[in-house]
Amino acid sequence: MTRDRIEWWAVFIGCALPLLALGWWAVTGDLGVNPIETIVRHLGDWALRLLVLTLALTPLRHLTRTARFIRYRRMMGLWAFAYACLHVLAYVVIDIGLHWPTFFGDLTKRPYIMVGMAAFVALIPLAATSTSGMIKRLGGKRWKRLHRLVYVAGALAAAHYVLMVKADILDPMIYITTLVVLYAVRLGRWQAGRSV
Ligand code: HEM
Repeated sequence: MTRDRIEWWAVFIGCALPLLALGWWAVTGDLGVNPIETIVRHLGDWALRLLVLTLALTPLRHLTRTARFIRYRRMMGLWAFAYACLHVLAYVVIDIGLHWPTFFGDLTKRPYIMVGMAAFVALIPLAATSTSGMIKRLGGKRWKRLHRLVYVAGALAAAHYVLMVKADILDPMIYITTLVVLYAVRLGRWQAGRSV
């Protein structure tokens, strides 16, 4: 196996590990006192972490002047979307038991659910157009423009977290600060007329 292949598999397994860990905890009964909350939050945490990591890859390329990391952007973005899907599924199926009046009640009354849903909806066209065929069909320019939605999705996902927490806002603030730095780097390059 070539070095590239080993690296690809390492990233793939790294992204899958939080899901495997969750499965393992479910089998061994290690999901804590509130298993549903553990499942929903663990999946939400990893959706956000992978989204932020995906957003960090381009600035990392500029910083290190190597394109090495960028080749994992699509894979990591898709993993972020997969975790977001499982997070929403866990909430809809396990947490509220497919009780749609509760779902629509939450969606209209709880701002963090509303904002989370907006983040999730923003990710759908990105995942749907992530294939090479779709890049060709849309054309590079339009595809790039569409994929700027990822910045909106990242900001909404972090806002979802901030709105959800009641007391300790340290964790969501770490995400917000990281995103502000990443967006500032991009904005700086864009203003300087360089590719972002
Ligand atoms: C891109 C989309 C989303 C991301 C990245 C995301 C991320 C997160 C994060 C990081 C948390 C906090 C986890 C923690 O406390 O450690 C969370 C909690 C939660 N999210 Fe999301 N979320 C998304 C979309 C949604 C959507 C669409 C819904 C519902 C329709 C939703 C429902 C919830 C619920 C119910 C909680 C847990 C609340 C609690 O335990 O009190 N999320 N999410």
